[in-house]
Amino acid sequence: MSSFASDALKVLLIGSGGREHALSWKLAASPLLGTLYCTPGNPGIADHATLVDLDIDDHEAVIAFCQSFEIDLVVVGPEAPLVAGLTDPLLQAGIKVFGPSQAAAQLEGSKGFTKDLCARFNIPTGSYGRFNNAPKAKAYIRAQGAPIVVKADGLAAGKGVVVAMTQEEALDAVDACFEGQFGDAGAEVVIEEYLEGEEASFFCICDGTTALPFGSAQDHKRVGDGDTGANTGGMGAYSPAPVMDEAMTERVMKELIRPTIRGMAEIGAPFSGILFAGLMITKDGPKLIEYNTRFGDPECQVLMTRLKDDLLVIMLAAANNMLDQLSVRWSDEAALTVVMAAEGYPASPRKGTVIKGVEEAETLPHVKVFHAGTIHKDGDLLANGGRVLNITATGKTVREAQKRAYEAVSKISWPGGFCRKDIGWRAVEREKAAQ
Ligand code: AMP
Ligand code: GLY
Repeated sequence: MSSFASDALKVLLIGSGGREHALSWKLAASPLLGTLYCTPGNPGIADHATLVDLDIDDHEAVIAFCQSFEIDLVVVGPEAPLVAGLTDPLLQAGIKVFGPSQAAAQLEGSKGFTKDLCARFNIPTGSYGRFNNAPKAKAYIRAQGAPIVVKADGLAAGKGVVVAMTQEEALDAVDACFEGQFGDAGAEVVIEEYLEGEEASFFCICDGTTALPFGSAQDHKRVGDGDTGANTGGMGAYSPAPVMDEAMTERVMKELIRPTIRGMAEIGAPFSGILFAGLMITKDGPKLIEYNTRFGDPECQVLMTRLKDDLLVIMLAAANNMLDQLSVRWSDEAALTVVMAAEGYPASPRKGTVIKGVEEAETLPHVKVFHAGTIHKDGDLLANGGRVLNITATGKTVREAQKRAYEAVSKISWPGGFCRKDIGWRAVEREKAAQ
């Protein structure tokens, strides 16, 4: 046993959301794990990891920490540190990383980069134009007509996209971008064909040359019931996405994912980590809406709940270019997560309100609560962000998972918070129609 203990791996996880709580929960279940560190973490992650205070913008400081604590693998949760290029100096220092290089993270960091890649390697997506000034962008919109989609090129925390149903809306969105509403992210705009169909999130785990399907999900981006109101980071999700059956998965792998992996290798930016494809399943087949270069939040929470295999083994295989030797197993059950958010989210979430009942909710069978924006203070659990808790449940059907998740929500006493009451509605309707 002592040799096993000395082989026990040390992992540093970066992030503080529900996504990272779900990752820490799965990593902690691995028999290979010795110590999990997380920066900055949250109270849920603290159940599985030692929280450390690191400035992740200070790459030298992260390297120094990894060297002195003999970290075997760094797992990067959110996109910002990937796009800022944290991976490259770590790799150069001989530290293994689960996550793409800065060059490969352009798939998320620049929408124009991704559209050009699609054009060059024949990856199906909407037609588009890239513009660095308003008059040319507006002329393109006038020529194409509405509906049309206007996107800030860079990272804009999910807010840089306007799906314009009228030409006026599209022209206003161009002005907003070039007037600096999205800062540097809006220095260039991508204007895109409006795609119609059913949306799905599809995930692949990649090691630079091999990509393996890594589950599917559908999320609910709007703040209000019936998919109304402001866009958010995601108010809930379920997995699998019914539209991503075996045949569609193989088609997406063949037409989108493999050409992307080959293309990225060919341009000298091999992609390693999680490739998250936002898809529109149109009447002409699957088309790419966008790529992200990390797990979705809250999609990760439902994926981790369904993953049967050892996440640490899978991530190590990806970091060591050995995914061709691996297969991944998933539970046949559905998983669904309901986000509980602080009053005022997404515009101005109220902090500091008291949350009770999380332990009681978790005593229900098939239920797991992931923390996002929470904090412990004087023995209380307080809201400390926009999206605060993810109430997650599994079931034989989406309907069963939904029922269990909302039963758990009812155990949580938090007058300062709210959630959508209809997460999973499309899948539940589909299940009812199929009966
Ligand atoms: P994003 O912030 O890039 O995830 O985009 C937000 C949402 O805008 C997506 O989930 C889609 O619903 C919608 N969207 C983005 N691009 C398009 C497009 N080309 N056609 C239709 N809807 C789109
Ligand atoms: N839930 C959407 C995202 O993580 O991008």
